[in-house]
Order: sequence, then C-alpha cells, then structure tokens
Amino acid sequence: MIQSKTILNALPQVLKTVNIPGLGKKHHGKVRDFYILKDKRVIITTDRQSSFNYNIGYVPYKGAVLNQLAAFWFTKSKKIVDNHVIDIPHPNVLIAKNCVPIPVEMVVRGYLTGVTVTSPWGNYQKGERMIYGITFPDGLTKNQKLPRPIITPTGHPDPESGSHNDERLTRDEIIKRKIVSKNLYSKMEKISLQLFDLGSKWCEKRGLILVDTKYEFGLYKGKLVLYDEVHTPDSSRFWLAHSYQSRFNKGLEPENFDKEFLRLYYFNKLGYKGTGKPPTIPQELAVDLAKRYIAVYEKITGKKFKAYKYPIEKQIIKSVKRIAQKSK
Ligand SMILES: Nc1ncnc2c1ncn2[C@@H]1O[C@H](COP(=O)(O)OP(=O)(O)O)[C@@H](O)[C@H]1O
Ligand SMILES: [Mg+2]
Repeated sequence: MIQSKTILNALPQVLKTVNIPGLGKKHHGKVRDFYILKDKRVIITTDRQSSFNYNIGYVPYKGAVLNQLAAFWFTKSKKIVDNHVIDIPHPNVLIAKNCVPIPVEMVVRGYLTGVTVTSPWGNYQKGERMIYGITFPDGLTKNQKLPRPIITPTGHPDPESGSHNDERLTRDEIIKRKIVSKNLYSKMEKISLQLFDLGSKWCEKRGLILVDTKYEFGLYKGKLVLYDEVHTPDSSRFWLAHSYQSRFNKGLEPENFDKEFLRLYYFNKLGYKGTGKPPTIPQELAVDLAKRYIAVYEKITGKKFKAYKYPIEKQIIKSVKRIAQKSK
C-alpha cells in the first residue's frame, strides 16, 4: 500500500503538462496532451483531474494509472477488436496510430444508475420509460442490474475547445443523420457489447462490478480501431462486488471506485453547489484519490503499482524522442 507521505511529497511535482521540443503543436484534451506526427499520435496522460467540466487540480500517479490500465485492457481485448497502441515507452506515454475519429461515444450500461437528472436513473425516476430510444419496464430500483447491458450513444466532445457536447443520440438518429453508416454502427454495437462482457467477467473475478463505461473508436487505414481509454476509473463506474447485494437490499448506495466519491466530497465537505468554478482539490482529497486510482489498478491487473519518483518530464521527453526521430 502506497504511503500518504509519498503521495504528499509528489504533489508539488505532479505531471501538469509536457512541452516536447521539436514535436510541433501541442494539442490537449481534458486529461491528455498529444502531438500529431503524420500517422502517429504521441499521447501523454497527465495527472490533471477534470470534474464538473473544469480542471480542478492534480492527483499524483493518476496519469500513469490511467495509461497503464488502458494498456492492460487493450492487450486483453485485442482478440475482439484492433486498437491504437503502437508502443508504451513510459508509464505516462502512448505512441498510437493516428486515427480518423468516429464522432460517437459508445456508452454501455449494465445497471440502472446515475446521479444527474439526465442520467438513465434520473429520467426513470421522473417517470420516463423510453430513455435513449430504449424502453424500460416499470418497477425498477436505483442501482438495479439491467436484464442485459444497453448502449446509450452520445455525440463526441470537441477535444480542442473542451466543450462537452454530450448530445444524447439514438441508434436510429445516428443512422438516419448518417453520423455513422448502419453497417459500421452495427459493428461498433457488437464490439462494444463484447468488450463490456469481457470487462464485466474479468472485473467480477477481481471483486469488482463494471457498472458502465464508454468506448471510442476511430478508423485507421480504413479499419475499425478502439482508442482513447478502456475500463479506467475516468471512463467507467466500478462498484465493490462483495457488498453490492446486501447494500442494494437495504437501499444503500454501493461502495464505489468512481467519481461519485469526489462529487460527494465536493458537495458535502466543500459546500460546492454544482455550478460555477469548483474549488481546487484539497491535499487530503488528492491523497485519497491517488490511493483509489492505484487501488483500482492493482485490483484489476493483480499487479503492484510501481510508484516512480517525480519529476518525470525529462524522462518522458527522452522516451518520446527516439520514436519521434524515426517518424520525421
Ligand atoms: N489514436 C487516436 N487517434 C485519433 N484520435 C484520438 C486517438 N486517441 C484519442 N483520440 C481523441 O483525442 C482527443 C483527446 O483525448 P483526451 O485527452 O482523452 O480528450 P477528452 O478530454 O476529450 O477525453 C479525444 O477526442 C479522443 O477521442
Ligand atoms: Mg478521453
């Protein structure tokens, strides 16, 4: 178990961003920096914590956890679908195939849950039974397992502006508006459900429930490729399996490993109301979050997380240079 002191000492030196000389324009999403080199992308997962649509601070080792956990799942899921991984020259760095994005996020849900009014549970609670083009039966309870996993696709956010266009879509709309062809969309559906099944079964063996997640795909040389991140705490909800049923029976919320923990801290301890710029993550919370990210990594992979010594910018630049020179 990583010591709180190690995390606290790392805090002033976390990975906020990386400027790599000679690689051209630095692009960035909420959490990742990336550089585009012809047919490759150099993707650096930083320690930025994005919540409520703001960058609210930094969590030591978060970038390394996300990158390595995604890498673990990319390897596992190779038999289902090809992915964008070329090389992982540093725990925070991924050399990826530069894909043509498919502007739909495939959200897969195994449980009826959510915290916002627009979430499936929020809608269901309001009395809606047709949600995301899917009909739900009466009599379901919050956090109940769905008869089978469902796909609720959304529009893709704009990576440059960071504005999150979570436009809710339905299968029919996607095909009618020709956002994705019927053939390709059907393929994405099939693969998403297979990936979710693989993830759920693996997590179950490791004491976790994979509650919901999202997948992103692109095209590389005309072939469908899975990219971004897979089954990480930033893209998925995880609940603890062993206490789920008894807590559900008592009407209690499941023990979770996801952003709900952070949300509750912000609402209950920091008095955040849900709108406007949230306060920066307090040190105590950053330590707790780092521990939780590491715990999920260790639980899922069964491997001990290697906590490196910060700062890491120089190592990252060095690790990327070799590859960059070859791509020039
Ligand atoms: N291999 C890839 N090829 C093309 N686009 C990618 C690839 N991997 C990720 N992306 C896209 O790059 C953007 C930036 O990534 P990320 O930092 O995760 O952004 P976001 O804040 O939108 O999650 C995202 O829109 C993501 O979908
Ligand atoms: Mg992303």
